Amino acid sequence: MFIYSKGGSPLQPWSHYLQLADAVIITDQQHRILDVNKKYEELTGYPRDYMVGLRANFLSSRLTPKKTYESMKAALSHRLGWSGVFVNRKRNQELWHTNITITPIPHLQDVFYVGVVRDLDDMPEGSYLSETRKVKLQNEILKVLAISCEIRDPHIEEHLHQVQIGTEKLLRAHNERMKLGLTEEYIHQIVNASIMHDIGKSGIPEGILYKPGKLNYYERHIMETHPLIGLEIVNKISNELEDDILDEDLKIAKHIIHYHHEKWDGSGYPAKLKSTDIPFEARVVSIVDVYDALTSRRAYKDAWSSDKAIQFLREQQGEAFEPELVESFLAMI
Ligand SMILES: [Fe+2]
Ligand SMILES: [Fe+2]
Repeated sequence: MFIYSKGGSPLQPWSHYLQLADAVIITDQQHRILDVNKKYEELTGYPRDYMVGLRANFLSSRLTPKKTYESMKAALSHRLGWSGVFVNRKRNQELWHTNITITPIPHLQDVFYVGVVRDLDDMPEGSYLSETRKVKLQNEILKVLAISCEIRDPHIEEHLHQVQIGTEKLLRAHNERMKLGLTEEYIHQIVNASIMHDIGKSGIPEGILYKPGKLNYYERHIMETHPLIGLEIVNKISNELEDDILDEDLKIAKHIIHYHHEKWDGSGYPAKLKSTDIPFEARVVSIVDVYDALTSRRAYKDAWSSDKAIQFLREQQGEAFEPELVESFLAMI
């Protein structure tokens, strides 16, 4: 058993490794941090005393594939060296791409692990495709998909853009007001996925989609299938991709697509879910979506004034919408 020593480090069996010019992290068999050197503190932004005793994965972001962790754990449990690429998050929330080589060093009856870390972000451009660029590309693809599914509506691009902006604002306001501690990661995922909410409308006939005036019983029934059509589209994409990183994003997109017309009191569609059974991300998008739809002009209706739309949200507080989210939304606008 090694001792985690905060505040200054007496001579330890790994002390020499900390002299390396690369960033160095020392862990025990349970992947807990025993020590780090100055360079590692500089790279991550965290002080040594904060890190000692924590699990080494406290910096990890969801962008490191699960397979990477699995292969690392398998090698280390057999006391073999391992090398791989991690996408971590620094203290300032910046993503950080590193190549790490971990070597097990037997010591008496025990073993400690020396991780030598190299910053891939310092590598010359073109050597690798960073996760940040991959995420950007992925978001662009989702946007093109969302717009092309609804290309028949000339106002859709503006609406999708407004929903994204509104979703981000509402998430931040609600997070702040309710002290929810939502991660940046999660906020970005919801914002990026919100653009997809209506992709199922691609399967609705134009005569119904743009009908001026009220829909009749049958037309309404057809219109209300759009969340399920959208879900089917995304299921098809996620089955083809079999990618666990994108899967996480698609799960949130699926919730939004499937449940953005559910109502807090259980009277929505298609699943008639109630209150917190409706996924959080869908509850958020539903308010923003309705508010933007009401306040903008469509072929079949005039734009409502913001006062009238706010009054509507108030009336629907606890009926269509989660009461606390409406509070945050009204405080925000
Ligand atoms: Fe919708
Ligand atoms: Fe919408």
